[in-house]
Amino acid sequence: MKPVQVGLLGIGTVGSGVYNVLKRNQAEIQRRAGRAIEITMVADLDVERAQAVVGGAVRVVKDAREVIANPGIDIVIELIGGYGVARTLVMEAIAAGKHVVTANKALLAVHGTEIFAAAHEKGVMVAFEAAVAGGIPIIKALREGLTANSIQWIAGIINGTTNFILSEMRDKGLDFDVVLKEAQRLGYAEADPTFDIEGVDAAHKATIMSAIAFGVPVQFDKAYVEGITKLSATDIEYAEQLGYRIKLLGITKRVAGGIELRVHPCLVPAKRLIANVEGAMNAVVVQGDAVGTTLYYGKGAGSEPTASAVIADLVDITRLHTTDAANRVPHLAFQPDQMSGEPV
Ligand code: HSE
Repeated sequence: MKPVQVGLLGIGTVGSGVYNVLKRNQAEIQRRAGRAIEITMVADLDVERAQAVVGGAVRVVKDAREVIANPGIDIVIELIGGYGVARTLVMEAIAAGKHVVTANKALLAVHGTEIFAAAHEKGVMVAFEAAVAGGIPIIKALREGLTANSIQWIAGIINGTTNFILSEMRDKGLDFDVVLKEAQRLGYAEADPTFDIEGVDAAHKATIMSAIAFGVPVQFDKAYVEGITKLSATDIEYAEQLGYRIKLLGITKRVAGGIELRVHPCLVPAKRLIANVEGAMNAVVVQGDAVGTTLYYGKGAGSEPTASAVIADLVDITRLHTTDAANRVPHLAFQPDQMSGEPV
C-alpha cells in the first residue's frame, strides 16, 4: 500500500519534533498504523531554515495553499498557531477533503464548533490530541478509555509555564518576573506569555476537554478565567504554612442545570498527588461515575512530547483507511525467544 502522504504547515519547535520522531521510529509507527506515514511537503515562511530541518528529499514551499492544493496530500498538520491564518487554512484544508491534525488549542477553543461542523459535513477527521496537555493522551483517554463513563468532573494543571513559575517561586523564593523570563527561555511559554500567566491558555485547553467530556459546544467565552499575576511570594508561603500548595487549575464539572468551566489559582492540600506536580509538568484528574478517579501525568509542552501526540493522531487517521480488526491488536516486533524474565 502506498504511504500516507502528510503536508506540514509550520516547522518550528513542534514541527521539527514531528519530522524527527516520524523518521526515527518509522518502522514501529508503520507496523502500528498498518501503512507507512511520510511527510512529503512542508510549508514555512522561512524556506531555507525549513529545508535544513527536513533535508533535500522533502519539498518545502512558502505558500501553505500549495500544500492544501496538492491532490497527493492525505493529511494536513497545522502547526502555525493563532486564530487568523490558521483558521483560514484549516477550513480550506477541510474543504479540499484533507484530514487535519492540529495542536492549536486557541483555534479550537474559539472556532471549534465551526471547524468540527465543516469536517463533519466533508467526512474528514480533525484530530487534536496535541492541543491539550502536550504529550499526555488525555483526549484519547476521555474519548476512548473512559467512553463508558458519565464524567463528573475534570481538574488539571494544564499550563506548564504557570506551574513552573509557581514551583520556582515556592522552592527558590524567586520573583515572578525572573521565573517568567526563564520559562520563556526554556520554550514553555506561548509567543504571547500573557496567554499563560492570565490563565487563557489553560482555559483554551479546559474548554476543549469540557466539550469532549460533556458534549457541550466549544465555548471559550463562557469560561471564568483568572491567572496567577496577582499572586505574591507571601501568598505561596502562607499557603505552605497552612498545608496547601497554590496551583492554577483548569476545572470543568457537571453541576445542577449545566456545566461549569473555570480556570483560577486553587489551594490544593499538599498531600494530594496533583499538589506535588512540579515544574513545567502537567497532570489531569478525571472523575468518572464507573471508573472513579483517574490521574494522567506527563510533559505538557516541548518538541518531542507534543510531536508524540501529533503522530498519534496521524496513526489514528491512517488506521481509518486500513481498518480491520487485526490492526487493533499488538503487532509483533520481536520473536517469542527474544523475551526473557531474567534480569539483564
Ligand atoms: N504555553 C503552554 C504551556 C505550552 O506552558 O503549557 C503548551 O501548550
